[in-house]
Amino acid sequence: MPDPTPVLSLDRVSKRFGPITVVDEVSVDLYPGRVTALLGENGAGKSTLIKMMCGVYQPDGGRILVDGRQTTIPDTRVAEAHGIATIHQELNLAPNLSVAENVMLGRTPASFGLVRPGEMKRRAKAALDRIGLDVDLDRPVGTLGVARQQLVEIAKALAVDARILILDEPTAALTGREISQLFEVVEELRAKGVAMAFISHHLDEIAEIGDSVTVLRDGRFVGRVPASTPEDELIRMMVGRDIDEQFPRRPAPPGDVLLKVDGLTAPGRFTDVGFEVRAGEVLGIAGLVGAGRTEVLRAIAGADDYTSGTIHLQGQRLPRGRVAQAISLGIGHVPEDRKAQGLVLGGTVEENLGYATLWSTGHAGLADRRGQRQRAADVAKQLRVRFASLDQPVRDLSGGNQQKVVFGRWVQAHSRVLLLDEPTRGVDVGAKVEIYELINRITDNGGAVVMVSSELPEVLGMSDRIVVMSRGRVAGELPVAQATQDNVMALAVSAVEPDRKAS
Ligand SMILES: Nc1ncnc2c1ncn2[C@@H]1O[C@H](COP(=O)(O)OP(=O)(O)OP(=O)(O)O)[C@@H](O)[C@H]1O
Ligand SMILES: [Mg+2]
Repeated sequence: MPDPTPVLSLDRVSKRFGPITVVDEVSVDLYPGRVTALLGENGAGKSTLIKMMCGVYQPDGGRILVDGRQTTIPDTRVAEAHGIATIHQELNLAPNLSVAENVMLGRTPASFGLVRPGEMKRRAKAALDRIGLDVDLDRPVGTLGVARQQLVEIAKALAVDARILILDEPTAALTGREISQLFEVVEELRAKGVAMAFISHHLDEIAEIGDSVTVLRDGRFVGRVPASTPEDELIRMMVGRDIDEQFPRRPAPPGDVLLKVDGLTAPGRFTDVGFEVRAGEVLGIAGLVGAGRTEVLRAIAGADDYTSGTIHLQGQRLPRGRVAQAISLGIGHVPEDRKAQGLVLGGTVEENLGYATLWSTGHAGLADRRGQRQRAADVAKQLRVRFASLDQPVRDLSGGNQQKVVFGRWVQAHSRVLLLDEPTRGVDVGAKVEIYELINRITDNGGAVVMVSSELPEVLGMSDRIVVMSRGRVAGELPVAQATQDNVMALAVSAVEPDRKAS
């Protein structure tokens, strides 16, 4: 079938930040009723490219065409007027406003200047129902977990009748069921002739809903191929080499118990949670969104309080709710929400990488500034963080590179026990393997890792033992050799009532 006329075209557009060209004469066309996937490593220029489609950035060169006519998109209002809706990679919600207000933000139905709350809520509810999100409309959005916030963000884009929809890693924070729901909506929109751009690091998702794939490398166009192109070929186009081992877990002989959690309880969040982790071990924690996995990690990290139970690190009792103390005793925490809890966005790459060692009393203090810079440079290199300089604000890094910085901080701090909450969210396929290698290195050196991940293959592929949580409790524990997708899922839903909606 020949391509119809594109509704939106970027024709050899470029974008520079200071001396660095991050998008270099790239062309991409969006067609009605088709999903164009964008693929490339972290920092390849995908988000920058789509920001030129929706008026966030102005190209420094090249042309933009809407319906075949050359135009400019000076700001997001003009993009909206063209019927372009965007779901950005980083959440753009107002945390203190309610769910309903966020969904309807900027287009509150008003009559004679008065807001009609009933109408607003009705329309917000319709948008949320469409993606199967069942939450209290009056609740402040900031109190929801990342997955639900992402769904609110998607509902917000769906509440307008867009003819061009741009989705920048919409699935990164979602689990299987929510992703299928989103993809059903994508199919509906496809049938209605909406043109879509879709960014994801998950090649299976691209194969499932994409029509064509445009591949970028280092800001340059590599090629446009059908979405049915074999994965290894796509990876080769994207990184310029083969990547073999998907989950290169090297089990280490388990040593002494490093972390012991006993009877941990915080009403409404988790109940009577207990497990042990030995030196050299990776303990995976599986469960559905809302099962309490994140909350348990946060309690261990000292980020949240709890009412009863104990946490021991190498036999020493950890005080409740004291982050600095947990860090100095050797606990590292990669939180699920890197933007709100993980990074100092205005701080430089070096400062963010060194942040844990500044807190840790066990390591060199103020005197060691130069050593810190060297170590920051080494870790950044190890993780292949893509940045212009160590003095660049972390805010300007691409999403995946920000994630690597949060991870790198704890590598540099030599944490004994690393608590990882969705550690590879938004990380490209090559960099994922590097993060897995770092996990191996940590356990080789006698450290321990507790990993929460919504990607079951990752939990099955990188853990030695798996604890499954369901509705705030430990539903069961399995050695990895006995764990399968099916028996882990069976435990994950074991305490969930059959009629309960997505949580
Ligand atoms: N405002 C900015 N100032 C300076 N550099 C920037 C800015 N925004 C992006 N960059 C740089 O541009 C490059 C491309 O970033 P972009 O966010 O487009 O990558 P991406 O392909 O979306 O990556 P990811 O998969 O990690 O989301 C990165 O090296 C990033 O550091
Ligand atoms: Mg991006």
